Amino acid sequence: MIDLTEIQPRGIDRFETRPQLPPAKLDALSRDILALKKELNAVILAHNYQVAEIQDVADFVGDSLGLSQQAAKTSADVIVFCGVHFMAETAKILNPNKVVILPDKDAGCSLEESCPAEKLKVFQATNLNFYTIAYINCSAEVKALSDVICTSGNAVKIVKAAPQDRDLLFVPDENLGAWVMEQTGRPMTLWRGNCYVHVEWTHSSIMRIRNEFPGAPLVAHPECTKAVRMLADEVCSTEKMVSYCQRSSAKAIIIATEAGMLHRLQKECPGKQFIPAPTDNCRCNECRFMKMNTLEKLYDCMVNLAPRIELSKEVIQRGRLPIERMLEISARPD
Ligand code: 13P
Ligand code: SF4
Repeated sequence: MIDLTEIQPRGIDRFETRPQLPPAKLDALSRDILALKKELNAVILAHNYQVAEIQDVADFVGDSLGLSQQAAKTSADVIVFCGVHFMAETAKILNPNKVVILPDKDAGCSLEESCPAEKLKVFQATNLNFYTIAYINCSAEVKALSDVICTSGNAVKIVKAAPQDRDLLFVPDENLGAWVMEQTGRPMTLWRGNCYVHVEWTHSSIMRIRNEFPGAPLVAHPECTKAVRMLADEVCSTEKMVSYCQRSSAKAIIIATEAGMLHRLQKECPGKQFIPAPTDNCRCNECRFMKMNTLEKLYDCMVNLAPRIELSKEVIQRGRLPIERMLEISARPD
């Protein structure tokens, strides 16, 4: 396990010191990015946790599953991936001959860090009957060691489709893994990793907000701990949060996931109020990795075609199969 104190800066500082661009600069930069996109025949893919101004210039905004599906079918020459490093790597594995760039190459993920490929290899060797299911939040090298990939949007379906005669090893998110076990009844060995943002919500912090807004349903991401998931009306991926909130007749909904999601929800569900679930000690609901990407860095990476994702042929070859297996299982009718 990584030392989370090393990667967890104080939430309040992080939340309040991110500089805002003046509106005229923001408009000019957005226009330049759209012009460059045409010139490069590029597609901009953005995760739901990206800052609002990036979401607003993207061709597609979605969850990890939707972004992988878009990456698998794009005809663009350049993929500009506004998300974290493992997401851009997935796009590169699916498009080895295309240029894949991301605004900040240091945009990592605490889940990815918790599962180094060498450690996984050693653990896999302890049981030759392991069938490794890797949550997409892991490095390309870990994907290359896995049998199948899943996202929060399809994890239940992927686990249900896993061979019955194999022992399931689920890496690297123990909370998502535990939730999937509850949903499927299938036992799994869980890697002890977690998302440093989603474990900040606690039973007491959620009870406080539920008491403040007694009529508001709570939607939580499966990376949250069981103590929080138990209090939720719906546990789902970020994309499924959009459809849940669109369908819900509630006027106010409490959201326990990264703060960028609120921009997407407000756009998709005008007229509804979204209440960010509070944590106990700070406003730690921003992922500092996701927030490393800015509109200026997005522009710069398109001008320079860098930072660029480069992976070895071997990792691309071995990583592709488990991702394609995931996309194929995901496309099966429910
Ligand atoms: P989603 O696939 O649900 O968008 O989740 C990605 C992620 O990083 C959650 O922290
Ligand atoms: Fe990783 Fe958590 Fe950030 Fe998602 S929110 S990218 S799981 S650290």
